[in-house]
Amino acid sequence: MRHKKICFIFGTRPEAIKVAPVSTMLRRDGHFEVVNISTGQHKEMLNQVLDFFNLPVNNSLDVMKVNQSLAYLSSSILDGLSRVLEELKPDLVLVQGDTTTAFMGALAAFYQKIPVAHIEAGLRSFNLFSPFPEEANRKMISQIANLHFCPTDKAVENLNAEGIHNHVYKVGNTVVDALLQGLDIIEQSMEERFAAKYAYLLQNKFILVTGHRRESFGDGFLHICHALKKIAEKFPDTPIFYPVHLNPSVQKPVYEILSGLHNVYLVSPLEYAEMIWVLNKSYIVLTDSGGIQEEAPSLGKPILVMREVTERSEGIDAGNAVLVGTDQELIFNWVERLLSDPQLYTSMSTAGNPYGDGLTSERILSIIKNYLDNE
Ligand code: UD1
Ligand code: UDP
Repeated sequence: MRHKKICFIFGTRPEAIKVAPVSTMLRRDGHFEVVNISTGQHKEMLNQVLDFFNLPVNNSLDVMKVNQSLAYLSSSILDGLSRVLEELKPDLVLVQGDTTTAFMGALAAFYQKIPVAHIEAGLRSFNLFSPFPEEANRKMISQIANLHFCPTDKAVENLNAEGIHNHVYKVGNTVVDALLQGLDIIEQSMEERFAAKYAYLLQNKFILVTGHRRESFGDGFLHICHALKKIAEKFPDTPIFYPVHLNPSVQKPVYEILSGLHNVYLVSPLEYAEMIWVLNKSYIVLTDSGGIQEEAPSLGKPILVMREVTERSEGIDAGNAVLVGTDQELIFNWVERLLSDPQLYTSMSTAGNPYGDGLTSERILSIIKNYLDNE
């Protein structure tokens, strides 16, 4: 009997990280023909993830341009993927999350009546413009997907509330599978190298920062940078370590405002292994990243979420995370409180991870087998 053909579509750093454990598990299972398709929405930031997880790319589009617009990105990915899917004729397409790649991947499959499975389904901020355009992307994917792999009960409820009930499964988030596998590899072969490379950070408690959301471009990013500057000046012994996203709309304000401060370390995006190692060694995390909100609780790190709303409210409900927005004073005040109040720090670092247990890929594998056997 012919093996069923399954295509994974990804294009950005977080998609590759979250797809890697599932794609690898399905390939090793031996029951499927697995084809990994990269849109190349990201370039450098994607390639390092593929190397780390040994994720083979079987087809790629290579669409990335500096400062790409959403319209360019959407049309080139839709057109490119449509051609690839037409040739491959898969039995199932998997997309992950809420990027332009994920939405266009689902749409390209839908136009050819190929069933779509959505990993990390059901997240909602209930604000179409924050995160932008991700909230719209994931809602539109839910309308055309056949299988919905939700990380939490809340995500299942969100889909049910929109009238989506068929093939909705709570499976956890594959980000925790990737994290546990990644930490294992680091422990075996990378620990000493990273400890030597980042010895300068380990002298004191340090703050890890990331930020890249489109809705914060302009004033939001300026406020974030000024808050970081004030933290650096008021806490001169606290290093602030900031791997800066490659988007020029991020790079410009960050380097203009924060270069030259003795305790602020601005670096290129980290390779995934280094990132989770640094995350594990950090004291406080300041971020607008979806993935880092999901990883940090596994490592007992308090998170200050620099967004006005979040679709990851489980961390806030559990007590791991606080929404500080892009308000300069609020960001500064929360950092000050966490640095000076050990009780608050302990309560925010011991809440556990509501997003996953490391077994999500196994659950997805078994649901897909069942689905394809009965089709
Ligand atoms: C994209 C996703 C966002 C996700 C984020 C993860 C969309 C609309 N946005 O946002 O949901 O959270 O990825 O990081 O899908 N660049 C490089 N090299 C790279 C990657 C990016 O130079 O390897 C620069 C390019 O100038 C590019 C720009 O960053 O044009 C923006 O990349 P893009 O994928 O459009 O947006 P992100 O902000 O990365
Ligand atoms: N990450 C990384 N290097 C970095 C910053 C982040 O490898 O310099 C990882 C991080 O650990 C997480 C993922 O990238 O797994 C999150 O990606 P990002 O913040 O770009 O996107 P989001 O999750 O917000 O969509």
